[in-house]
Amino acid sequence: MNFRPPSDREGAPTLIQMARGAYVKAALSLRSPSAAIIPEGSQTAEGSPPSNARAMSLVFQPSDNIARMKESATLAVAAKARALKAAGKPIIDLGAGEPDFDTPQFVIDAAFKAVAEGATHYTATEGILPLREAIAADANRLAHAGLPRVAADEVVVSNGSKQSLYNACVCCFGPGDEVLVPTPSWTSYYEMLGLARATAVPVYGDASNSLKVTADQLRDAATSRTRGLMLNSPSNPTGAVYSRDELRAILDLAAERNWWVLSDEIYMRIAYDGPAASALELAPTRDNLIVINGVAKAYAMTGWRIGWSIAPVAVTKAMTAFQSHATSNSAAVSQYAALAALARVEDADAAVNAMVRAFHTRRDALLTVLHAYPSVKYVHPAGAFYLYINVAGFAGAPDPGSAFASRVLEQEHVAVVPGSAFLTPDWIRMSYATTQSVAVDGLTRILRCLHG
Ligand SMILES: Cc1ncc(COP(=O)(O)O)c(C=O)c1O
Repeated sequence: MNFRPPSDREGAPTLIQMARGAYVKAALSLRSPSAAIIPEGSQTAEGSPPSNARAMSLVFQPSDNIARMKESATLAVAAKARALKAAGKPIIDLGAGEPDFDTPQFVIDAAFKAVAEGATHYTATEGILPLREAIAADANRLAHAGLPRVAADEVVVSNGSKQSLYNACVCCFGPGDEVLVPTPSWTSYYEMLGLARATAVPVYGDASNSLKVTADQLRDAATSRTRGLMLNSPSNPTGAVYSRDELRAILDLAAERNWWVLSDEIYMRIAYDGPAASALELAPTRDNLIVINGVAKAYAMTGWRIGWSIAPVAVTKAMTAFQSHATSNSAAVSQYAALAALARVEDADAAVNAMVRAFHTRRDALLTVLHAYPSVKYVHPAGAFYLYINVAGFAGAPDPGSAFASRVLEQEHVAVVPGSAFLTPDWIRMSYATTQSVAVDGLTRILRCLHG
């Protein structure tokens, strides 16, 4: 599969044309009364301001780039819960999307050492070579033997996997392109694709299949404009994990159709019923594959902001160029911390396994609570640290998840995320990245609110 930047495609405007269009629009809107307030009396007879008229204030009108963007609903709930906490309410916050553990000490020590030794400068945009080599080595432990080995020049290190995903969306997709998004899925995919001016096409998974989509559903949703698909296993928000067969069927279809696959594997190490598979293990080719991962979730390193992409060299070059203009390299000290996490495999495995064991114990405790409520529907939580609970019909509301999230916050002081954030309003997401007693208490209150 040959990589062509989105603007190269037939009929699609180039970035420069788009920029020119935006410039003209901006110039026009500056001349419109809603954009600029001209001092009274300074209009000429023709109604236009004289050349020396100065705008006294500029009313912000969102640009076309962000006009469709929505605030992250996960952040909105966290903000509301924080406000209630600040007002003295004892809130059980089950909205969090980050491990409640601290970064392993050996990683912190490595970061201190790196800074003391001078890791305080810019690095190459794509990241320091030893880290990219460690990422490639980590990938090669999984990548299936029939494909070429992953090399460091296929890796870009970014400010969290979020930036890697955004880089990939902007570089592979553009106006007129449709991208299939198995839904429910992480709220930022839809927005990132919108920012790339591509069209996110939600493909809804079936509750009988843990809300996962099948290759057949993706095939049915495709049009001649389909250019790619997002994959995320284990899934945020559902905690569902795709089986090897399910994943293989989807990857085969994508390869056959020449679709880009953006496989977000940020939760891959956090799986309970056997290992979660990586696209690197199953894809028939890596020519159309962009694997995204990072240190945030598995190594409890959310604040260090290190993620990466593994992609064909042409895509990697485009993503590096894009990132060089957007943010340059991720923080040097964080790169050395991530290097320790990836290169010191034994220490890292011990730390990661201990965290995953703790999540697993909590997951089992939650399942025990749920078994006492056989009528409650939920997605079997096989990975990540989320439980997705069905609240369809709650209070007869048109958006039952939001109605429930408000009610349970006010009545039971529990913060959860409404499923509308993930385009499935009949559901709510609770995170169990918190102590077991808090998670169990929170779930018990949720179930009381649902049935009370
Ligand atoms: C599915 C998914 N992908 C990516 C990310 C972003 O992770 P990072 O902290 O590496 O940017 C998150 C964070 O919540 C996520 O849930």
